[in-house]
Amino acid sequence: MIKSRKSNDEINLTAELKNKLDLYLANVSEKEVLDNLHLFIPRVILSRVLAINFLYQKIIHNSGIIMEFGCRFGGNLALYNNLRGMYEPYNYTRKIIGFDTFSGFPQVGQIDEAKAGDYDIFQNYDHLLSEILALHNLGSPIGHIEKNEIIKGDINETLPKFLENCKRTISLAYFDMDLYQPTLKSLELIFPFLSKGSIVVFDDFNNDLFKGESKAVFDFFGSFNSYKYNSIPNYPRLSYIEIV
Ligand SMILES: C[S@@+](CC[C@H](N)C(=O)[O-])C[C@H]1O[C@@H](n2cnc3c(N)ncnc32)[C@H](O)[C@@H]1O
Repeated sequence: MIKSRKSNDEINLTAELKNKLDLYLANVSEKEVLDNLHLFIPRVILSRVLAINFLYQKIIHNSGIIMEFGCRFGGNLALYNNLRGMYEPYNYTRKIIGFDTFSGFPQVGQIDEAKAGDYDIFQNYDHLLSEILALHNLGSPIGHIEKNEIIKGDINETLPKFLENCKRTISLAYFDMDLYQPTLKSLELIFPFLSKGSIVVFDDFNNDLFKGESKAVFDFFGSFNSYKYNSIPNYPRLSYIEIV
Protein backbone atom coordinates (compact mmCIF):
# COMPACT_ATOMS: atom_id res chain seq x y z
CA MET A 1 0.00 0.00 0.00
CA ILE A 2 1.28 3.45 -0.86
CA LYS A 3 0.07 6.27 1.36
CA SER A 4 -0.99 9.31 -0.60
CA ARG A 5 -2.91 12.54 -0.23
CA LYS A 6 -3.75 12.81 -3.94
CA SER A 7 -7.21 14.19 -4.72
CA ASN A 8 -9.44 12.41 -7.24
CA ASP A 9 -8.82 15.28 -9.66
CA GLU A 10 -5.06 14.72 -9.42
CA ILE A 11 -5.48 10.99 -9.94
CA ASN A 12 -7.65 11.59 -13.02
CA LEU A 13 -5.22 14.15 -14.37
CA THR A 14 -2.32 11.71 -13.96
CA ALA A 15 -4.27 9.04 -15.82
CA GLU A 16 -5.02 11.51 -18.63
CA LEU A 17 -1.36 12.54 -18.89
CA LYS A 18 -0.35 8.87 -18.93
CA ASN A 19 -2.69 8.28 -21.91
CA LYS A 20 -1.08 11.17 -23.76
CA LEU A 21 2.37 9.84 -22.88
CA ASP A 22 1.48 6.43 -24.36
CA LEU A 23 0.36 8.16 -27.54
CA TYR A 24 3.55 10.21 -27.65
CA LEU A 25 5.78 7.16 -27.09
CA ALA A 26 4.01 5.25 -29.81
CA ASN A 27 4.69 7.95 -32.38
CA VAL A 28 7.84 9.89 -31.55
CA SER A 29 11.17 8.99 -33.10
CA GLU A 30 13.61 7.08 -30.88
CA LYS A 31 16.12 9.93 -31.03
CA GLU A 32 13.66 12.40 -29.55
CA VAL A 33 12.01 10.12 -27.06
CA LEU A 34 13.71 11.48 -23.92
CA ASP A 35 14.05 15.07 -25.11
CA ASN A 36 10.55 16.04 -24.13
CA LEU A 37 10.01 14.32 -20.81
CA HIS A 38 9.30 17.74 -19.26
CA LEU A 39 6.19 17.84 -21.45
CA PHE A 40 4.69 15.29 -19.07
CA ILE A 41 6.22 16.10 -15.74
CA PRO A 42 3.41 16.97 -13.27
CA ARG A 43 3.75 20.10 -11.13
CA VAL A 44 4.32 18.15 -7.91
CA ILE A 45 7.18 16.19 -9.43
CA LEU A 46 8.71 19.37 -10.81
CA SER A 47 8.52 20.80 -7.28
CA ARG A 48 10.43 17.77 -6.02
CA VAL A 49 13.11 18.22 -8.68
CA LEU A 50 13.52 21.88 -7.72
CA ALA A 51 13.65 20.97 -4.02
CA ILE A 52 16.39 18.41 -4.62
CA ASN A 53 18.26 21.01 -6.67
CA PHE A 54 17.94 23.48 -3.77
CA LEU A 55 19.32 20.89 -1.32
CA TYR A 56 22.16 19.94 -3.64
CA GLN A 57 23.24 23.56 -3.93
CA LYS A 58 23.47 23.73 -0.16
CA ILE A 59 26.15 21.01 -0.04
CA ILE A 60 28.32 22.04 -2.97
CA HIS A 61 30.94 23.53 -0.64
CA ASN A 62 30.68 20.75 1.89
CA SER A 63 32.82 17.71 1.20
CA GLY A 64 31.27 14.28 1.65
CA ILE A 65 29.05 11.62 0.20
CA ILE A 66 25.30 11.64 -0.42
CA MET A 67 23.22 8.85 1.08
CA GLU A 68 19.57 8.07 0.55
CA PHE A 69 17.86 5.71 2.99
CA GLY A 70 14.84 4.21 1.25
CA CYS A 71 15.63 5.03 -2.39
CA ARG A 72 13.07 2.65 -3.97
CA PHE A 73 12.94 3.42 -7.75
CA GLY A 74 15.92 5.74 -7.30
CA GLY A 75 14.55 8.86 -9.00
CA ASN A 76 16.33 11.08 -6.48
CA LEU A 77 19.60 9.21 -7.06
CA ALA A 78 19.34 10.00 -10.76
CA LEU A 79 18.75 13.66 -9.91
CA TYR A 80 21.79 13.85 -7.58
CA ASN A 81 23.85 12.24 -10.36
CA ASN A 82 22.94 14.84 -12.92
CA LEU A 83 23.22 17.72 -10.46
CA ARG A 84 26.73 16.51 -9.61
CA GLY A 85 27.50 16.45 -13.33
CA MET A 86 26.21 20.02 -13.68
CA TYR A 87 27.52 21.73 -10.55
CA GLU A 88 30.73 19.85 -9.76
CA PRO A 89 31.60 17.78 -12.82
CA TYR A 90 35.08 16.90 -11.55
CA ASN A 91 34.13 15.95 -8.03
CA TYR A 92 34.81 12.23 -8.14
CA THR A 93 34.69 12.10 -4.32
CA ARG A 94 30.96 12.92 -4.21
CA LYS A 95 29.77 9.33 -4.10
CA ILE A 96 26.03 8.70 -4.12
CA ILE A 97 24.85 5.70 -2.14
CA GLY A 98 21.28 4.37 -2.17
CA PHE A 99 19.91 1.90 0.39
CA ASP A 100 16.76 -0.15 0.09
CA THR A 101 15.49 -3.68 0.50
CA PHE A 102 13.97 -3.37 -3.01
CA SER A 103 11.23 -5.63 -1.65
CA GLY A 104 9.37 -3.07 0.47
CA PHE A 105 9.14 -2.69 4.21
CA PRO A 106 10.88 -5.65 5.91
CA GLN A 107 9.02 -5.13 9.19
CA VAL A 108 6.85 -2.40 10.66
CA GLY A 109 5.98 -1.18 14.15
CA GLN A 110 2.54 -0.27 15.47
CA ILE A 111 3.14 3.46 15.13
CA ASP A 112 3.90 3.08 11.41
CA GLU A 113 0.35 2.09 10.43
CA ALA A 114 1.66 0.06 7.48
CA LYS A 115 2.40 -3.54 6.74
CA ALA A 116 5.47 -5.57 5.83
CA GLY A 117 5.92 -5.70 2.05
CA ASP A 118 4.39 -2.27 1.36
CA TYR A 119 6.35 -0.48 -1.40
CA ASP A 120 7.50 -3.77 -2.90
CA ILE A 121 8.81 -3.43 -6.46
CA PHE A 122 9.56 -5.83 -9.27
CA GLN A 123 12.32 -8.43 -9.02
CA ASN A 124 15.95 -7.47 -9.52
CA TYR A 125 15.09 -3.78 -9.76
CA ASP A 126 18.39 -3.00 -8.00
CA HIS A 127 20.27 -4.29 -11.08
CA LEU A 128 18.26 -2.11 -13.42
CA LEU A 129 18.75 0.91 -11.15
CA SER A 130 22.54 0.35 -11.05
CA GLU A 131 22.58 0.26 -14.84
CA ILE A 132 20.50 3.43 -15.15
CA LEU A 133 22.74 5.29 -12.71
CA ALA A 134 25.88 4.06 -14.50
CA LEU A 135 24.48 5.60 -17.69
CA HIS A 136 23.86 8.93 -15.94
CA ASN A 137 27.39 8.79 -14.53
CA LEU A 138 28.80 8.12 -18.00
CA GLY A 139 26.89 11.12 -19.34
CA SER A 140 28.96 13.44 -17.11
CA PRO A 141 32.66 14.34 -17.12
CA ILE A 142 35.06 11.71 -15.73
CA GLY A 143 32.36 9.13 -16.28
CA HIS A 144 35.00 6.39 -16.22
CA ILE A 145 35.09 6.70 -12.40
CA GLU A 146 32.08 4.91 -10.91
CA LYS A 147 30.54 7.17 -8.28
CA ASN A 148 27.34 5.33 -7.38
CA GLU A 149 26.58 2.43 -5.14
CA ILE A 150 23.31 0.63 -4.52
CA ILE A 151 23.12 -1.36 -1.30
CA LYS A 152 20.33 -3.89 -1.15
CA GLY A 153 18.96 -5.32 2.09
CA ASP A 154 17.55 -4.37 5.47
CA ILE A 155 19.34 -1.26 6.66
CA ASN A 156 19.69 -2.80 10.11
CA GLU A 157 22.25 -5.12 8.53
CA THR A 158 23.59 -3.18 5.56
CA LEU A 159 24.26 0.22 7.16
CA PRO A 160 26.45 -0.95 10.10
CA LYS A 161 28.51 -3.00 7.61
CA PHE A 162 28.87 -0.07 5.23
CA LEU A 163 29.89 2.35 7.98
CA GLU A 164 32.43 -0.05 9.44
CA ASN A 165 34.65 0.60 6.41
CA CYS A 166 33.55 4.17 5.77
CA LYS A 167 36.35 6.71 5.91
CA ARG A 168 34.25 9.55 4.52
CA THR A 169 32.01 12.28 5.82
CA ILE A 170 28.35 12.50 4.80
CA SER A 171 27.33 15.83 3.30
CA LEU A 172 23.68 14.95 2.62
CA ALA A 173 21.64 12.20 4.25
CA TYR A 174 18.14 11.79 2.88
CA PHE A 175 15.65 9.79 4.93
CA ASP A 176 12.66 8.26 3.21
CA MET A 177 12.03 4.89 4.85
CA ASP A 178 8.81 6.19 6.45
CA LEU A 179 9.23 3.90 9.48
CA TYR A 180 10.22 4.52 13.08
CA GLN A 181 12.79 1.82 13.86
CA PRO A 182 15.09 1.95 10.81
CA THR A 183 14.97 5.77 10.74
CA LEU A 184 16.01 6.09 14.39
CA LYS A 185 18.70 3.43 14.09
CA SER A 186 20.16 4.97 10.92
CA LEU A 187 20.21 8.44 12.50
CA GLU A 188 22.15 7.07 15.44
CA LEU A 189 24.60 5.29 13.16
CA ILE A 190 25.32 8.11 10.71
CA PHE A 191 25.49 10.98 13.20
CA PRO A 192 29.27 10.62 13.84
CA PHE A 193 29.89 10.90 10.06
CA LEU A 194 28.16 14.28 9.67
CA SER A 195 30.21 17.46 9.66
CA LYS A 196 29.32 21.11 10.18
CA GLY A 197 27.08 22.16 7.30
CA SER A 198 25.88 18.63 6.53
CA ILE A 199 22.21 18.40 5.67
CA VAL A 200 19.86 15.75 7.02
CA VAL A 201 16.64 15.62 5.03
CA PHE A 202 13.34 14.01 6.01
CA ASP A 203 10.80 13.23 3.35
CA ASP A 204 7.87 12.84 5.70
CA PHE A 205 8.55 14.76 8.89
CA ASN A 206 5.55 16.44 10.60
CA ASN A 207 3.31 14.37 8.36
CA ASP A 208 0.45 12.48 10.02
CA LEU A 209 0.58 9.85 7.31
CA PHE A 210 4.05 8.81 8.49
CA LYS A 211 4.00 9.07 12.27
CA GLY A 212 6.91 6.65 12.65
CA GLU A 213 9.40 8.79 10.75
CA SER A 214 8.36 11.94 12.65
CA LYS A 215 8.67 10.22 16.01
CA ALA A 216 12.15 8.93 15.13
CA VAL A 217 13.26 12.46 14.22
CA PHE A 218 11.82 13.88 17.45
CA ASP A 219 13.34 11.11 19.53
CA PHE A 220 16.75 11.77 18.02
CA PHE A 221 16.92 15.54 17.45
CA GLY A 222 13.89 16.83 19.33
CA SER A 223 15.59 17.40 22.61
CA PHE A 224 18.36 19.54 21.03
CA ASN A 225 16.80 22.94 20.51
CA SER A 226 19.92 24.13 18.66
CA TYR A 227 18.50 22.47 15.52
CA LYS A 228 16.08 24.23 13.24
CA TYR A 229 13.65 22.18 11.18
CA ASN A 230 13.77 23.98 7.84
CA SER A 231 11.07 23.64 5.23
CA ILE A 232 11.05 24.23 1.48
CA PRO A 233 8.01 26.33 0.55
CA ASN A 234 7.46 24.91 -2.93
CA TYR A 235 7.74 21.35 -1.61
CA PRO A 236 6.58 21.41 2.02
CA ARG A 237 6.67 17.66 2.37
CA LEU A 238 10.47 17.86 2.85
CA SER A 239 12.14 19.17 6.01
CA TYR A 240 15.83 19.41 6.68
CA ILE A 241 18.25 20.04 9.49
CA GLU A 242 21.61 21.68 8.93
CA ILE A 243 24.29 20.49 11.32
CA VAL A 244 25.76 23.50 13.15
C1 LIG B 1 8.51 5.76 0.42
S1 LIG B 1 9.59 4.55 -0.21
C2 LIG B 1 10.97 5.49 -0.78
C3 LIG B 1 10.67 6.39 -1.96
C4 LIG B 1 11.85 7.02 -2.63
N1 LIG B 1 12.73 7.71 -1.72
C5 LIG B 1 11.38 7.98 -3.69
O1 LIG B 1 11.62 9.20 -3.56
O2 LIG B 1 10.77 7.54 -4.67
C6 LIG B 1 10.20 3.82 1.28
C7 LIG B 1 11.29 2.81 1.03
O3 LIG B 1 11.95 2.51 2.25
C8 LIG B 1 12.41 1.18 2.18
N2 LIG B 1 12.70 0.68 3.54
C9 LIG B 1 11.90 0.73 4.63
N3 LIG B 1 12.48 0.11 5.68
C10 LIG B 1 13.69 -0.31 5.25
C11 LIG B 1 14.76 -1.01 5.88
N4 LIG B 1 14.71 -1.43 7.16
N5 LIG B 1 15.86 -1.28 5.14
C12 LIG B 1 15.94 -0.88 3.84
N6 LIG B 1 14.95 -0.22 3.19
C13 LIG B 1 13.84 0.05 3.89
C14 LIG B 1 11.26 0.44 1.48
O4 LIG B 1 11.71 -0.74 0.87
C15 LIG B 1 10.76 1.49 0.48
O5 LIG B 1 11.26 1.26 -0.82
